[in-house]
Amino acid sequence: MLNLGDRVETQAAPKTTQPTFDIIGLTVEFPTITGTPTIAIRNLDLRIERGEIFGLVGESGAGKTTLARTLLRLPPEPGRIAAGALVFEGNNLMPLPEAELQRMRGRDISMIVPNPRSELNPLLTVGEQIANVARVHLKVPKREAQRLALDILRAVQIPDPERRMQAFPHEMSGGMAQRIVIAIALICSPKFIVSDDATSGLDVTVQAQILRLLRQLAQDRASSMLFITRDIGITAHFCDRVAVIYNGEIMEIAAREDFFFRPSHPYTIMLMAAFSYNQRLRQLWARPEPHAGATIGATACPYFARCPLAQPRCRTDRPALRELAPGHSVRCHFPVAR
Ligand SMILES: Nc1ncnc2c1ncn2[C@@H]1O[C@H](COP(=O)(O)OP(=O)(O)OP(=O)(O)O)[C@@H](O)[C@H]1O
Ligand SMILES: [Mg+2]
Repeated sequence: MLNLGDRVETQAAPKTTQPTFDIIGLTVEFPTITGTPTIAIRNLDLRIERGEIFGLVGESGAGKTTLARTLLRLPPEPGRIAAGALVFEGNNLMPLPEAELQRMRGRDISMIVPNPRSELNPLLTVGEQIANVARVHLKVPKREAQRLALDILRAVQIPDPERRMQAFPHEMSGGMAQRIVIAIALICSPKFIVSDDATSGLDVTVQAQILRLLRQLAQDRASSMLFITRDIGITAHFCDRVAVIYNGEIMEIAAREDFFFRPSHPYTIMLMAAFSYNQRLRQLWARPEPHAGATIGATACPYFARCPLAQPRCRTDRPALRELAPGHSVRCHFPVAR
């Protein structure tokens, strides 16, 4: 999977003064019965540049979905945004009225999720569903909306699109239904797309086709994308920059080449080893058992209990994210040098 040789050629994200999304000091928490909330996203800073595809990787429970939904100011219930700013195209979304955000969702920022069938209305044809989005958000008449729907069905490479406009979701395969969900997400040419594990339910060849398509459509429409996955290998082919999230915090962030050729955080290396075909590497970096009896206090590195390279300092001194090289930052006192 970690083969950079056959990657899709990417254009470096153009640097502009204003990123598409600037997430500043974001904290999202879930209330618990004990009264002490669970922190799902902790004081997170992240800038997503215009036109870039940004990969976010992390294991189950790391906070990926919470972050994805929070970018639309819709953290999963009963979560709440405890702190931070979400600056989209220069405007902070936090103080905006809910009605304004509803207008933006699906038009300026859209989200692609797995399980396309649960996203689609079983009672409406796919053509109607796509056209409705265009009518509501772009305020175009019915005929124009239908024309746009047909165009986007062609763009997502649905065979025989005129006929498929009349089909119901249950008449489609999983891969085709996922293309419909992508069509709905892209019809308004949003400036920002969040894809949360959107291809995980598909078989590998369909997944590769859909990723290529998504990348092409994002490029054609100059959209930026936050691409979330548990599979670190996918990001090697698909993303311009990559970050690893663990326990609601970014552990490492770098441009793709630096990330894959010079991974520095022990956790990043462990994730890569888990997806590698190299037996020796896998054994060396097997997911370690938590250190016996290790209790992680607020002062310890969040990865302390599982880190094979942990030192006494890691228990008492919580590391900050620090820059190792331009654009390459890591939250570790003892990054692995290459
Ligand atoms: N509805 C909820 N109620 C309470 N806590 C939640 C809820 N959703 C998420 N959490 C908490 O937030 C953390 C992050 O969950 P999240 O769903 O964002 O993880 P994820 O990275 O998307 O995982 P997965 O890869 O399994 O989708 C969880 O570990 C859990 O503690
Ligand atoms: Mg998730």
